[in-house]
Parts: sequence; structure tokens; C-alpha cells
Amino acid sequence: MYDTASIQPAFQPIEQGNPADDGRAFRRCLGQYATGVAVITVKHDDKLAGMAVNSFSAVSLDPPLVLWSIRRESASAKAYLEASHFVVNVLSADQVETSQVFGAPHPDRFSQVAWTPGRHGIPLLDGAVAHLECRLETVYEGGDHLILVGHVDRYVRFEGEPLLFAQGQYAVTQNHPRLTVAAASPSEPIAEGKVPTFLKLLSITNQHMSALFQEHRQALCVTAASTRILNRLFESPCGIDELERSTYLGRDTIEDVLGDLVAQGHVLSDKGTLFELTAKGRRTSEAVAKRSAEFTIEKLRGISESDIAAAKRVLLELQKR
Ligand SMILES: Cc1cc2nc3c(=O)[nH]c(=O)nc-3n(C[C@H](O)[C@H](O)[C@H](O)COP(=O)(O)O)c2cc1C
Repeated sequence: MYDTASIQPAFQPIEQGNPADDGRAFRRCLGQYATGVAVITVKHDDKLAGMAVNSFSAVSLDPPLVLWSIRRESASAKAYLEASHFVVNVLSADQVETSQVFGAPHPDRFSQVAWTPGRHGIPLLDGAVAHLECRLETVYEGGDHLILVGHVDRYVRFEGEPLLFAQGQYAVTQNHPRLTVAAASPSEPIAEGKVPTFLKLLSITNQHMSALFQEHRQALCVTAASTRILNRLFESPCGIDELERSTYLGRDTIEDVLGDLVAQGHVLSDKGTLFELTAKGRRTSEAVAKRSAEFTIEKLRGISESDIAAAKRVLLELQKR
């Protein structure tokens, strides 16, 4: 346990404790470890099953072994345990919807995505960045999960960027900002000949501004995740499926954040199916929007109107290409 009194503010823990006391906080802590997202497909008794996982991990190169873990209570656990083979479909950055279809109960997941039968008729999802065709080798006990170890018989890698999952939300890979001189120290002038390309500058600036705005979210007692949910609910009441589609947050995160927002009096829930902002929630959402507008004005101060208009024109034009 940290002695919180003696450490610098930047290293003060946000939360800590025994996982047994607060499962949600424990999950948030685990979410600090970024992963990819895969859909594991299987064919058992002539029926197809597939589920989104982020517990996938490489184990060994020789022999080639991988693992993933499944909740014991998963509706498809039997299929995975009894089938001799499974396929790991590593999702690409533009397959968030695929992850959502395979990450929540759905009557007919395979009618929602394009796929091709691979060996043993197991679906290979189109658009994945990798397929690993595996033979189930061992199953280990893992508390409320079971750990499945597979021997990789065949792998296929495709061009493309992987989908990431971190801090309870979908994300994409980006070069580390320190890769460029400009980002290492945004306030210093960029040395001649070292100016990053236009697109790199765009991504660095976005990361820089987003990090600066974090301080304002903290002041308003909201997080990036709760802001996305408040913003969506500001438009109209909706259910969890729509929040998942529009916020790109994981379902568990949405449920946790909604729980907090309800407890804080920001959101009202109609039997847990429809969520609506209260007057307090609307005020908070408006306060974040106002702070964001003020932040933009403050950051653009000193830059001429014509420069701002030109930059906007370029960005809008780029979106059409
Ligand atoms: C990004 C993401 C990662 C997930 N990781 C896992 C996992 O590693 N293991 C697991 O059992 N469920 C995981 N889930 C939840 C399952 O995909 C979800 O419960 C699914 O509905 C299970 O399939 P079933 O309904 O056929 O049981 C994850 C969901 C998402 C969206």
C-alpha cells in the first residue's frame, strides 16, 4: 500500500485496494493494461460460435502456443471446450462493430459479418488483420474463467492496423508522440529540417490538446468516458446498445459509468433499459461543452482569423479525400 501523504501529486493513486472489496475498481485497474481485440470462432455440432475477447495472449514460439480465457458462464463455453479446434481472428482498427456484435448476446452473429469457412469449417472473419488456426491443447482452471491453450497450426497475416482496447475503450495505434522532435517538447521551436509531416503534426497536436483538456475534465469531476456518455444522452435518451455504438466504449465501462452517473443524480434509468439525463446531468454536460469552447478560444488566441479559417478549410478538405 502506498503511503499517500509522502508522494508527489502526479503519483497519487486514484484508487487502490483489495479486488474483493470493489470488483469494478479492480477491472478499471486491469484496464490500464492495453490489449488488442480478437474474435474466437469455433464450429461444434455443426453450429458456429464466436465471441470477442481481449484475454488473448501469445505463450510460446516453439511449440507455437497461444491462450485466451473464457468466462465459465459464457453461453458458448461448452462449444469451445468440446470442439477440437478454434480460430483467433485478430480484429482490425475498423472492426469495432464486429467486436460489438461478438461482445454481447446476439441471436445470429454470423449473419452480421462477412466470413469464409477455414479448416474444419471454422469461420475466418473477413477484414481481420490476422487469423490463427489452432488446435485446442489444454484447458486450465482460472477462477471464474477457464484458460484455453491452443497450438497454432496455421497463421495468416494481413495488411492493416489492429484494433486496441485500453481503459475500457476502443483505441487505435499511433506512433508515440516523442517519435518526433516537435512532440518531445511542444513549447520549443522545431529545429530547421525537422518539421514533422502535416499528418504527424495533426496527430501530435490532437494528443497534446487532449492531454491539456484532461485538467478541465478533472475540475468538472468528469472523465473522458463519462463525457462521451453525457454528450450522447444530451441528444436524447437511449439504451446501452446505442451508447456502445456511439461512444466506442466497452459495455462493462458503459455499465460502470452509468451506475456512477445514476448514483450522482446525473442520469435517470427506466428499469435499466433506457437512460435519460436529469436536469443536473444536462447542466454538467453543458458545463463541459462550455469549458471545451472556452478552452478552444483560449488555445487559438493570438492566431489570426484568416489562419484559423485556412486551417479549418484544409482539415475539412482532407476529410473528403
Ligand atoms: C473488447 C471485449 C473483450 C472481451 N473479452 C472477453 C474475454 O477475454 N473473455 C470472455 O469470456 N469474455 C470477454 N468478453 C465478453 C464476451 O465477448 C461476451 O460476454 C459475449 O457475449 C460472450 O459470448 P456468449 O454470449 O456466446 O457467451 C469481451 C467483450 C469485449 C467487447
